Amino acid sequence: MRASRARRGALGSPRSAPRGVRGGSPTEMKGQNTVFVCQSCGAQSRKWLGRCSECDEWNSLVEERSSSAHGRSDARSALTGEGARLYADIESSDAERISSGVSELDRVLGGGMVPGSLVLLGGEPGIGKSTLLLQAAARVAETGRSVLYCSGEESPHQVRARGERLGVTDAPLYLLAETCVERLLEEVTRLSPGLVIVDSIQTMFSSKLESAPGTIGQVREAATQLLFAAKGRNVTVLIVGHVTKDGNLAGPKVLEHVVDTVLSFEGDRHHAHRVVRAVKNRFGAVSELGVFRMTATGLETVPNPSQLFLSERKSDAPGSVVLCSIEGSRPILVEVQALVGTGAYGNAQRVTSGVDRQRLSLLLTVLEKRVGLHPTGEDVFVNVPGGVLVNEPAADLAVVAAVASSMRNQPVLPRVAVFGEVGLAGEIRGVTQAGLRVREAAQMGFTRCLLPLTNRGPDIAEPGCELIGVGTVAEALEGLFA
Ligand code: TYD
Ligand code: MG
Repeated sequence: MRASRARRGALGSPRSAPRGVRGGSPTEMKGQNTVFVCQSCGAQSRKWLGRCSECDEWNSLVEERSSSAHGRSDARSALTGEGARLYADIESSDAERISSGVSELDRVLGGGMVPGSLVLLGGEPGIGKSTLLLQAAARVAETGRSVLYCSGEESPHQVRARGERLGVTDAPLYLLAETCVERLLEEVTRLSPGLVIVDSIQTMFSSKLESAPGTIGQVREAATQLLFAAKGRNVTVLIVGHVTKDGNLAGPKVLEHVVDTVLSFEGDRHHAHRVVRAVKNRFGAVSELGVFRMTATGLETVPNPSQLFLSERKSDAPGSVVLCSIEGSRPILVEVQALVGTGAYGNAQRVTSGVDRQRLSLLLTVLEKRVGLHPTGEDVFVNVPGGVLVNEPAADLAVVAAVASSMRNQPVLPRVAVFGEVGLAGEIRGVTQAGLRVREAAQMGFTRCLLPLTNRGPDIAEPGCELIGVGTVAEALEGLFA
């Protein structure tokens, strides 16, 4: 199949060239202004096909509006309604960010909401997306800016009932139960709100397409119309997107290209705290992190996450090490736990939560080859409590130390925090933002910080926190169990 596609690609018309619509010329009759476009090769068809007749890909046809149906004949931009302008004449819009009233949300957005931006908040069902956005909507409305909260999932009564739990008072907050994006945009025109919230994008549909809500074509069309509305009216639009179990935005990975900012709402439903992370941000740093706690009266911000993540740590337990990690621009101390047990019948298990499993395998081999510990035949479990994901290389040293501590059944020295990347030769490599990490450790009362030798210098010294530079894994383990 792949080979035949390549051959056709080489002989036939190039991938990006516009193709004629199969099955007759486009007409502008109702129901006739859409085409089905193959997402793999771009071929178009009048009717839906299970398999693309051009590239033989299965299930790749998605309903879209045909380009003539967009109805633009002039040369002006659909986003701003203007022609080209000189760079020097364009004023920067960074000054006028709007606070969402929720400090941790502002932080992940890069300092507040940017007017004219389209923000996607993704997360599993029940994690608290509607709660967070209703809280933000109410806070923004309290400042006198009108807010339109459009729910395609709940009736205004349900939203109101939740609002009462959250302590939302009478503010210019408009609730709309609507799933048709054109109707929603009419309301936006009528009310001209300062903030629009759409919960959720999977329930919205455009009357211009005939496919069901939630399909790729519908989700993309609805998001595109909201994008044009956001840019054209200079209003912030926040949309909710449900995420499937495997962590993808249900169906529309395409959405990530359309929106300006993608926030991911993560956390374990069985724990109270939640993490909002910026995955993509045209207006700020990515992997910026906001931490919340779910309470009976909504989401509460957690200003000091290090304290939260270390609050239940047993410091004298073997296999527990404190890592100074960086999320976006924010240093956070987290605990890395390891448990090493005898593997059964050569079926060694590697189970991780919060760190990468492949990375763990690599680090175990480094421990075996460079230090002489033998964890490779054993079951190894590594966990970062609190639902935090540490996928930066600086976490390596903490993982290695936790595994070694569990294998020796000996706790690491008290009040010591670590960070550093481990190389294949067993060397400890320097990481970024060492100063920030050390400062956070000192602030949280850690008296010793084990760090890469190359990062150690007078510029990052903190009073009351001894810096121990290490060059190899063996040296690091010596320093931790002395
Ligand atoms: P919700 O915002 O409806 O989730 P989503 O929109 O992401 O599907 O929140 C759902 C959960 O939050 C629900 O299980 C109940 C819990 N919750 C609280 O614990 N306290 C509250 O004040 C609210 C409103 C919800
Ligand atoms: Mg919801």
